[in-house]
Amino acid sequence: MEKRVKKAIFPAAGLGTRFLPATKASPKEMLPIVDKPMIQYAVEEAAACGIEEFIIITGKYKRAIEDHFDSAYELEESLKKSGKKKLLEEISRLNHINFAYIRQRAALGLGHAILCAKPFVKDEPFAVLLSDDVIDAEDTLLKDMIKFYEELDCPILALQQVPGAEIQRYGVIDGVAEGDGIYKINNLVEKPRTEDAPSDLAIIGRYILTPDIFRVLECLSMGKGGEIQLTDALRGLLKNRSIYGYLFKGRRYDAGDKVGYLKATVDLALKNPQVSEPFKEYILNVASRLKK
Ligand code: G1P
Repeated sequence: MEKRVKKAIFPAAGLGTRFLPATKASPKEMLPIVDKPMIQYAVEEAAACGIEEFIIITGKYKRAIEDHFDSAYELEESLKKSGKKKLLEEISRLNHINFAYIRQRAALGLGHAILCAKPFVKDEPFAVLLSDDVIDAEDTLLKDMIKFYEELDCPILALQQVPGAEIQRYGVIDGVAEGDGIYKINNLVEKPRTEDAPSDLAIIGRYILTPDIFRVLECLSMGKGGEIQLTDALRGLLKNRSIYGYLFKGRRYDAGDKVGYLKATVDLALKNPQVSEPFKEYILNVASRLKK
């Protein structure tokens, strides 16, 4: 089996109900954070880790994603003519990337979305990036996970400690710390009630998986919420091989949640050289108004 992680899957077929009405007819993944759609942050993160093949799982009303990552000939020509070099560079920066799109015909869950990519992944390890988990570009989460995968030759899941009240929004692991932020996983549960959660270690939206997950996914019945859950498939896979978690201590935004989305917008705007100065002034102004 190929050992290098060259492929990444970006599930993007979800209904985006938490952002209705904004997501009624347009994809959640295209909601902008400052000046880029959410999914572009994940694509750039994967590209920075040497990923070569980008597989996006789409669904109804998701065509804007394909258009976004396509070349925009007329726009590029017009920017060229008007000498807007910087903008031209910005919109064509990802033009060299090859995307494959697979349509998930029904929103049957994350596990089902991953299974849809089986014909493209074949016999290789692959990364999964959930674009509503936005990771600060200065953090090297995915790079570190790929490194651990290469060392351990086992699936690696990104973990983060979350407060008790929030644990029910996540897949949660039971595991043993083995040093370097690495946990050997003994069990996984999808969205447990706070009192049933085996730990406070939540799975966040970055995975390095191996193709044997497909065999488990193919036999899986519906889990939590009537969906095919990736967490359940990983629990099945645990019977045959070890799975590790990597505890992320950097900054992650749950941009699939309204407050998380607003936090991502504020923090990333404060880092964006085009807007940071006037925006910071505004934020300070808001803060002093709130103090009064
Ligand atoms: C999915 C997974 C869950 C994981 C989460 C991370 O849930 O099913 O195990 O913890 O992503 O963001 P979703 O947020 O799609 O409901």
